[in-house]
Amino acid sequence: MGFMIEWKKVNLYIERTAIIMYIYFDQKETDVTAIAAQYPVTCVTDIDEIPEGALVLHYQPDMVSLECGNLEMHGDLTTMLPRLKRLNTEMLIKAAKPGNFPQGALAIDATAGMGEDSLLLAAAGFRVKLFEYNAVIAALLQDSLQRAAAIPELADIVARMEVVPGDSIRGIRELEEHADVIYLDPMFPERQKSGLIKKKFQLLQQLERPCDDENGLLTAAMEAKPSKLIIKRPLKGPQLAGVMPGYTVKGKAIRYDCFAF
Ligand SMILES: C[S@@+](CC[C@H](N)C(=O)[O-])C[C@H]1O[C@@H](n2cnc3c(N)ncnc32)[C@H](O)[C@@H]1O
Repeated sequence: MGFMIEWKKVNLYIERTAIIMYIYFDQKETDVTAIAAQYPVTCVTDIDEIPEGALVLHYQPDMVSLECGNLEMHGDLTTMLPRLKRLNTEMLIKAAKPGNFPQGALAIDATAGMGEDSLLLAAAGFRVKLFEYNAVIAALLQDSLQRAAAIPELADIVARMEVVPGDSIRGIRELEEHADVIYLDPMFPERQKSGLIKKKFQLLQQLERPCDDENGLLTAAMEAKPSKLIIKRPLKGPQLAGVMPGYTVKGKAIRYDCFAF
């Protein structure tokens, strides 16, 4: 049985991680099964019941946002528009070499996050399946893509992007078609110091956890035999699971370790 919440102004309070969701859906029911499976969830109906400093997933009729005190973040792919105009200068696109693939080739983003890298791949012509195992991030991502679909410059691009909530290690193994490109960008174990990252992403960092199965992720990706496997790493960070790539595309702060098969 799913965990369904009747519509009205319903607030969900997730105790362990102090996440609170405000549900203001303009639809009859909200399925929070996936989130409740990952975090303890308590429903509250009054905003005053939310403890100060709690992390809040706020469902509004037209947007889902993550909030904590004065901080708020929601997906906004319009911020990527300037980068889409210079797509060929993007290192990820240089690493992926979309010209070597037919239009509509399949790229798997096994660690989707807020989908910015996937957007670059989709803008370059790939169909992209975006796997995201954190149910709260997946909800924010789905909302972000839904809103982007209404932006004329993004509509055609996001139409090629499909969010698949869940663990990509399993998802890659269950793919029903061959993946042309697999892209991995798991969170690096040494988190960036919070002062160095944009404030709004500090909220996301409370949810993300460093990859605890580098071997599993890399093995699943390699066993799928994509034509190309691309792994984003900090410029001076170790290789994922300690495996040497075929070649590397380097930038100022990050690098893309690539395997061509
Ligand atoms: C560093 S972020 C990726 C950022 C992303 N490249 C972007 O452009 O926004 C890593 C994300 O991968 C997710 N993740 C890590 N391992 C995963 C797995 N095995 N399956 C699905 N999602 C995973 C994490 O929850 C996190 O949201």
